[in-house]
Amino acid sequence: MSVVDYQVHEQIGIIWINNPPVNALSSELRNGIHQAVLNAQSDATKALLLICKGRTFIAGADISEFDKPATKPSFNDILGTIESSSKPVIAAIHGTALGGGLETALACHYRCAVGSAMVGLPEVKLGLLPGAGGTQRVPRLIGIEAAIKMITGGNPIPAAAALSAKLIDHVIDGDDLLQGALAYTEQLIADNAPLKRVRDITIDPSSIPAGTFDTIRAQFAVQARGLIAPQQIINCIEAAATLPFDEGLAAEQRFFHECMVSSQSAAMRHMFFAQREANKIKGLPKDTPQRPIKSVAIIGGGTMGGGIAMNFASIGIPVTLLEINPEALQRGLGIVEKNYSNSVKKGKLSDAKKQACMDLISGTTDYQDLAHVDLVIEAVFENLAIKQQVFSQLDKVCKPGAILATNTSYQNIDQIAAATQRPQDVIGLHFFSPANIMKLLEIVRADKTADDVIATAMQLAKTIGKVPVLARVCDGFIGNRMFSEYSREAQLCLIEGSTPEQIDTVMQDFGMAMGPIAVGDLAGIDIGYKVREVLSDEQKGNPASYCIADALVEMGRLGQKTGAGYYKYDAQTRARTNDPEVMALVESMAVAHNITRREFSDAELVLRLILPLINEGAKILEEGIAQRPGDIDVVYVFGYGFPVYRGGPMQYADELGLASVYEQLTRLHQETGEASWQPATLIKTLAETGSSFAQWANEQA
Ligand code: 3HC
Ligand code: NAI
Repeated sequence: MSVVDYQVHEQIGIIWINNPPVNALSSELRNGIHQAVLNAQSDATKALLLICKGRTFIAGADISEFDKPATKPSFNDILGTIESSSKPVIAAIHGTALGGGLETALACHYRCAVGSAMVGLPEVKLGLLPGAGGTQRVPRLIGIEAAIKMITGGNPIPAAAALSAKLIDHVIDGDDLLQGALAYTEQLIADNAPLKRVRDITIDPSSIPAGTFDTIRAQFAVQARGLIAPQQIINCIEAAATLPFDEGLAAEQRFFHECMVSSQSAAMRHMFFAQREANKIKGLPKDTPQRPIKSVAIIGGGTMGGGIAMNFASIGIPVTLLEINPEALQRGLGIVEKNYSNSVKKGKLSDAKKQACMDLISGTTDYQDLAHVDLVIEAVFENLAIKQQVFSQLDKVCKPGAILATNTSYQNIDQIAAATQRPQDVIGLHFFSPANIMKLLEIVRADKTADDVIATAMQLAKTIGKVPVLARVCDGFIGNRMFSEYSREAQLCLIEGSTPEQIDTVMQDFGMAMGPIAVGDLAGIDIGYKVREVLSDEQKGNPASYCIADALVEMGRLGQKTGAGYYKYDAQTRARTNDPEVMALVESMAVAHNITRREFSDAELVLRLILPLINEGAKILEEGIAQRPGDIDVVYVFGYGFPVYRGGPMQYADELGLASVYEQLTRLHQETGEASWQPATLIKTLAETGSSFAQWANEQA
């Protein structure tokens, strides 16, 4: 079967689309639809039905073609052909009609869908805007305000909501798409239904108060800070409201092109594919068997354990929470309850759902209660001896084949696994805080972890709505190992002349969700302090990189939780203010370490902080800790607030150019003599051959 087939059913010409996996509108498919609609104009049918095989209606343009030269017919050529068809064209929607898919449906004269279908324009998530008339047709159907919300948000809506919004015309009873769509089309023929063209709907510009679009643009400059696409979407919708249809379409084309060639969209498209690629484990066949996970136990109901438990209860998997004593258990269960209650208060969860989740979580202090669970996740104190003790106990009570996971941030999982007689069942499941919210899950394979345990963990991550990335064992795995370098450099910039405020503002302007100094206050400055307590001077590295943090902890300034750290925090609002006491400390520490403080430019700060991420990322690749550069990018975007529109540190390095990255690292290495600035061999090699991380990843694939 070709990507488009034509079949006549009584009075109806059925245009079948079959372009697996998601019927993306490739150039071949566009051609096929175009020809089918043109050919059908002269046959005896009275209406045309556009319908897809497989799991979904057209899920959008083929994103992988965006980097290739444009081909004819263009989207608008085809949609124009459909819209000007002499007989009605009806779109029959199932699965997800997204982006160019929904736009194709909107060029049809009528749209019907099964109740389970979803429709949406997610282009903004790729740094784009709907470039096939979506910004012109949607406001004509649903109004300016609703169109701005839908297109700048990018989230799909269910068929029923699409019907109420008038985006579609009919919801089919039952789930037989073909039968339902044929019946609907026959009815339209019987009713002699007119050729309804969305382009013919007019928007009265005088109904829009002067200045409306300027106000919305200003709102989005704050709400979607740094992003190009939302602004361009508003420009397009303004064009829809103020220009004739064809001129609006031409404006949309111009703005679409500007987005398409932007580095933001390149980065976001990279993230789309990187996220999907991260699911693939090199050397692990797709059909690797998985172990069923129907019950879970969590050891330790502290900051992480409670949040981890919620992930499972929320999808109906029963959880047993084990704590050291009844008081700790009550405290842990209390935190979970409070988290669910907060969701109820915010209207994100019903009382009934909260109760159902709480009913699925039971507490215990007795390891025997874990005998039958399929998966245990340990989240006790970050201490190897305690973790080994927990795992040796689990080894005694858990059933054969149970997966034993640790949420450790830094400990050596091979050594944890060695505390059991079943190292093949041991794996790292590194959640991020708050564990019920953060999307990233680093899955850490130890030396002896079995393939089916890895495959189960990868699938499980998706089941609980996380984004999984596979890592191997090293100090801090992918994310925290790189973050240590970033934080260390932030400390050095501070003592050498910058301020907490400058560092945080500059990194937020770069697009990070939070600056590194504010992150320290949020996480607690004592965490690093405790880690350093057991390290040798050599392991701790340059004292200038931790002396300020140590002094703050010794002053009782642990961060937000004590109301003061690098900043002071208002007890009620948690608003932060700069503290002259901290700057006095910084200055005295600089003197003590023989450092003459100097001014930093914002650009220099960004480079000083991002280059260590790139350099450490490259070392992680060389050592095989991460499978590919895109995986590191996924870790940083989903776990560390790296701006998605910069595509993660490795994609950003490619954008800077590895020759330039190498040159800057070499300069810093020569200037400071610090070993950490020594460029990774991989960067040196790629820079010398004019290559990039992306090219290298392709060669390794
Ligand atoms: N183009 C090319 N490939 C696509 C694609 C697209 N639009 N959408 C999905 N794919 C590929 C994925 O890369 C993946 O490939 P792989 O198996 O080799 O990794 C495969 O299809 C399956 O995708 P998922 O793993 O994401 O499958 P799911 O079932 O989880 O999700 C989906 C299906 C909801 C359709 C999801 O893939 C999705 O959201 N796709 C993107 C939709 C989108 O952004 N559309 C707009 C495109 S831009 C556009 O249309 C511009 C227009 O306005 C001109
Ligand atoms: P926490 O101190 O908040 O909670 C630990 C809990 O474990 C306490 O409630 C304690 O009573 C319990 N516990 C200690 N020993 C136990 C034992 N033998 N049996 C049963 N329960 C025991 O610690 P947190 O922050 O939740 O960290 C837990 C683990 O998660 C650590 O390994 C940490 O490195 C890791 N982690 C922490 C993150 C964070 O941001 N807090 C992020 C990612 C991982």
